[in-house]
Amino acid sequence: DMAEKGGYPDFMLKEIYEQPRVVRDTLVGRLAPNGELDIDELGLSFEELNVIDRIYVIACGTSYHAGLIAKNLIESWARIPCEVEAASEFRYRDPIITPSTLVVAVSQSGETADTLAAIRDARIKGAKVFGITNVIGSPVARESDGVIYTKANKEIAVASTKSFIGQIVSLTLLALLLGQAKGRLTTGQVRMLFHELGDTSAQIQRIFDTQLDAIHEAACACQGAQSALFVGRGMGAAISYEGALKLKEVSYLHAEAYAAGEMKHGPIALIEPGFPVIAVTTKSPTYDKVVSNLKECEARGARIIALATEGDEDIKRIADHVIYIPPVRDAFSAITASVPLQLLAREVALMRGCNVDQPRNLAKSVTVE
Ligand code: G6P
Repeated sequence: DMAEKGGYPDFMLKEIYEQPRVVRDTLVGRLAPNGELDIDELGLSFEELNVIDRIYVIACGTSYHAGLIAKNLIESWARIPCEVEAASEFRYRDPIITPSTLVVAVSQSGETADTLAAIRDARIKGAKVFGITNVIGSPVARESDGVIYTKANKEIAVASTKSFIGQIVSLTLLALLLGQAKGRLTTGQVRMLFHELGDTSAQIQRIFDTQLDAIHEAACACQGAQSALFVGRGMGAAISYEGALKLKEVSYLHAEAYAAGEMKHGPIALIEPGFPVIAVTTKSPTYDKVVSNLKECEARGARIIALATEGDEDIKRIADHVIYIPPVRDAFSAITASVPLQLLAREVALMRGCNVDQPRNLAKSVTVE
């Protein structure tokens, strides 16, 4: 058992630590010498991609959260309207689909029943379907028009970690490709962004090397709580949703994520002295806004755990605990900032005596509706 876990105490930790490799492997061979992205398996030419005028990302669970991140990137780089929808909802709606609609189905296992049903439905209605999956030859791969493999390798812990990072990196490649096909990104910009994307591999490693004590302290602050709130804006909101899901899944601590600007419309009522608020405050266009939202929490006695950019000393004025992330473009912040949240969830779970690899009531893949 220990050998399978490569010396780690559990698969979750082993898989979290594989993430720098997942970033590298997902990018290997993707940038051709002429500076063009090389994603042949998608099987669509630039001309065909250029026609796409609406995108739905459909997925479940953690994969759905990868979709929320992709929406930000696709809309900002390719300027194509993009909606993210739970596959279980999508399949029972009557979504607007035309031949110029692209459906991107994201599924680690490639066999989630709702996601597959949504793919089938979308294709009948005439959409092009791309699959983002970790499993070669899986139903999602077989039933999609094109596919990007996430190169995470087999994931054993039920709560997804390395697959999530592989999905974000793959979706980022897709967003870059669409940006290029739409003529919104130049070859030079794509090349620069591609290299920065690759740098996140070393940045994740740096978090492992420098932030474990800070994460441990933050976990101690959450351990005895009844509930926790995750907040952020923009990319930070998407990161928060996955952070809260991870914590719930493995530690059974109730956690909720909210776009920080919405706090005042409800969740702020929950705050009382000692209530843990985990905030994504990495440098971004909305940094000041998040900080002012946090001041509201601080005034009510919240215990604030901030995920901040290295060098941000100011944040210590309102945060009780700070976990530092290497400086990274906002577009890539989900790749780095999600990693300490995975470690946080795991530590809280272990402190509460939970089995991090096999949480109760959850299954690795859900092949029935
Ligand atoms: C289950 C797993 C989650 C996963 C979700 C979607 O709920 O426990 O970790 O995110 O299914 O799975 P998929 O394989 O489609 O990404």
